[in-house]
Amino acid sequence: MSQTWWRGAAIYQVYLRSFADGNGDGIGDLAGLRSRLPYLKDLGIDAIWLNPWYPSPMADGGYDVADYRGIEPVFGTLAEAEKFIEEAHELDIKVIIDVVPNHSSTENTWFQEALTDRGARDRFWFRDEPNDWQSIFGGPAWTQVADGQWYLHLFAPEQPDFNWDNPEVHREFEDVLRFWFERGVDGFRIDSAALLFKSETSYEDLDEVHAVYRRWREIADEYGERVLIGEVWLPDQERFTRYLRPDELHTAFNFDFLSCPWEPAELRRVIDLTLTTHAPVGAPPTWVLSNHDVTRPVTRYGRSDTTFAHGGRLHGVPSDPELGHRRARAAALLAMALPGSVYVYQGEELGLPEVEDLPDDQRQDPMYHRSGGTNRGRDGCRVPLPWAGDEPPFGFGGTPTWLPQPESWRKVTAEAQAADLGSMLNLYRTGLAHRHDLLGDGTLTWLTMGPDVLAFTRESGLTCVSNLGAAPVRLPAGRILLASGPLEDGALPSDTTVWLTSLE
Ligand code: GLC
Ligand code: CA
Repeated sequence: MSQTWWRGAAIYQVYLRSFADGNGDGIGDLAGLRSRLPYLKDLGIDAIWLNPWYPSPMADGGYDVADYRGIEPVFGTLAEAEKFIEEAHELDIKVIIDVVPNHSSTENTWFQEALTDRGARDRFWFRDEPNDWQSIFGGPAWTQVADGQWYLHLFAPEQPDFNWDNPEVHREFEDVLRFWFERGVDGFRIDSAALLFKSETSYEDLDEVHAVYRRWREIADEYGERVLIGEVWLPDQERFTRYLRPDELHTAFNFDFLSCPWEPAELRRVIDLTLTTHAPVGAPPTWVLSNHDVTRPVTRYGRSDTTFAHGGRLHGVPSDPELGHRRARAAALLAMALPGSVYVYQGEELGLPEVEDLPDDQRQDPMYHRSGGTNRGRDGCRVPLPWAGDEPPFGFGGTPTWLPQPESWRKVTAEAQAADLGSMLNLYRTGLAHRHDLLGDGTLTWLTMGPDVLAFTRESGLTCVSNLGAAPVRLPAGRILLASGPLEDGALPSDTTVWLTSLE
C-alpha cells in the first residue's frame, strides 16, 4: 500500500465488545476478532478502526480509559493485541485505534492521586464552585468530591476532563502515541477532538487545540505512513477544515453526510460543501453512514424523517424496513463512489436494523441513564453481531450475549447472507472490490440528470447514478457494473444506485 493509503481507504469500524467473542463469556474480544480476520479480508477493506480497547470500568463503553498503555482484560492482553496487529498486517490490513485525550476514567491513576492529594489536581479541572455547564450526556457537568471541590466532566461523572493547560498532559499523550506507534498501529482516531481546551465560557473548538495536533502530526510523521483522524462535530465547515490543514490531522469524520436526510438537494449540498471545503487544505473527504453512536441506516432511512440528530434519535418512530433497506443499499454505493475514504461500521454490511426493543433494565449507555430515559441512547446499534446459525448467540460466542440479539436475526447472519447473491453483504463485498480498483481518492464531475438524481463520473470513467425521485429514470450510456437493486426495463427505479463503466 502506498504512503498515502489513508486518502482513499475503506475503513471498517470494529466495536470490539460486539464483534466476536473468542472465550465464550458473551462479550467480544481480541481472540474473536483475530478469528474473523479472514471475513474482513474477504469484505475488501483496507483498514480496521477499533473503539477503545484499554483497561476500563466501562462506564461509557471503554471511553472511560483507566490505563492508556494497556488492554482491557475482558478483551485480552497486550501480547494478543500485538499479535492481532501483526496478523492484520500480514493480510495487508492497517490498524487504527482510538485515543481519548479529552477525559480519562475516575479509575485512572492520575485521578486517583488527585482525589487524595489536592496538590495533584492540576491535571484535571477542579474548582471550589461549579459553573452552569451541562454534561453532553445530560445532568450537570460537575461532580463534587469528599472535601467539597468539584471536577468537570463533559460526559459521564466517571469521565473527568483533563486540563490541557498543563504541559504534563501534553507530554503524557505524546508518549501514549509513541507507545502504540512503536507497537505497529497505523493511526489514531481522536475522540472528541475539538473539546480539549476550556475557557471561562466555552469548551468547543478553542484555538489552542491546533498546536496540539501540529505536534501530534510531527510525531506521526516520524513513524511514516501513520494517520490521525479527528472526531470533530462542528457545524461550521470552515472551522472544521482548520483541523485538516497540511500540518495537522490527516482526515476527520464527515458528520454532515452522516446526518443528512435522504433527499437529493440536501445530499448534493452536503457533498458539494464537503468537496469545496476540503479542497483548499488538500485533505481527502470521508464518507460515513453510521458508527457506534448513531441510529442504524436501514432504520433511519425507513422513516419519513430520515435525518439523524443526537438529541432526538427518533427512537420508536415507525420505520418501513423494506424502504429503509432499499435506501441503505443505494446510499452505500453512493458513499463508496464519492472521492476520499469511506467508513463501514460493523453490521452495516449486514444491513442490521437498530434494535429498539431492548429491555430497559439491560440498557448500558450512560446517555440513556443520565437523560432519565428520555434519550434511549446508543445500545440499539451496539448489539452483538449475528455470524451463523438459527438462534442466539448466532455464532457470536458465549451466551447470554452482553446485549440480547433479536430472534429475527437468523435471516441476516453473515453465513446466510454469504450464500445469497442479492444480500447486503454481497453488495458491500462487490462494491468494495470494485471501489478498490476504480474509486477512492480524487475528484468527481457532476452530470445533469434532473433535480431528483445524483449523478457523477470519476477519473476512472466510472459513473455513479442515484435516483431519489419517485419515477424511474433513463440511464446514460454505459455498461452496468453494479446496481443496488433491479432495474425496470433498463431504467433506474426510485431509491436505487447504479455504477456504470464506459462502453469500450
Ligand atoms: C465520542 C464517542 C462516544 C463517547 C464520547 C465520549 O463521541 O464516539 O462513543 O461516548 O466520545 O468519549
Ligand atoms: Ca469474550
